[in-house]
Amino acid sequence: MILAEEKYILDNKEIVLRSARPDEAQMLLDYLKTVTGETRFLMSEPDEIKYTQKEEEEFIRKHNEAKDGLLALAFVDGEYAGNCSFESNAGSRRIRHRAGIGIALFQKYTGFGLGRLIMKRILTEIEKAGFEQAELTVVGGNHRAYHLYESLGFKECGRIPKANKYDDGTYAEDILMVLQF
Ligand SMILES: CC(C)(COP(=O)(O)OP(=O)(O)OC[C@H]1O[C@@H](n2cnc3c(N)ncnc32)[C@H](O)[C@@H]1OP(=O)(O)O)[C@@H](O)C(=O)NCCC(=O)NCCS
Repeated sequence: MILAEEKYILDNKEIVLRSARPDEAQMLLDYLKTVTGETRFLMSEPDEIKYTQKEEEEFIRKHNEAKDGLLALAFVDGEYAGNCSFESNAGSRRIRHRAGIGIALFQKYTGFGLGRLIMKRILTEIEKAGFEQAELTVVGGNHRAYHLYESLGFKECGRIPKANKYDDGTYAEDILMVLQF
């Protein structure tokens, strides 16, 4: 799916939301390496981001061409700030009514409402696409994300203990959350 460019004003900043273009693959790879190093709340370590530019271009194209997926980028005063995406959980009919969401912003663009803006926008698209529920996973201790999702109507539906093991030997649980439309 394509999200055509939309403009908003938030905290006196100009926000642009739109789909990614294949020629932005390198920008997205650089972003992934940075955001994974900024927080313990994403799935990989920076050195595990090994996609090639071609693979990332494919990832962008796949989302743009999908009927049931979207990769939306956010720009703040012209600077790339992060993205939010959703995709159908799988090909089989029994689970096709469920959309999985991912979101990550650069730390410098967190905490002023951008996450709420882009999540609300993505949820509208998910509902419009006919999904019956949206699902995501939050790492235990990510209070900001948990609060945001709960305030948007997501409900916690389970925890996986020790789901994440860090290089320093510590663990964090995964919290599963679902929003039923
Ligand atoms: C999680 C994330 C998407 C949230 O986006 P954001 O733009 O920072 O969030 P917003 O500013 O829109 O909203 C955050 C909300 O959490 C609240 N909040 C902030 N810190 C908090 C804390 N420590 N505990 C509880 N709530 C907190 C804010 O007050 C705000 O709630 P309100 O609108 O009711 O006042 C963003 O911070 C991010 O990308 N973080 C790094 C990667 C990540 O954690 N991704 C999520 C993976 S599930």
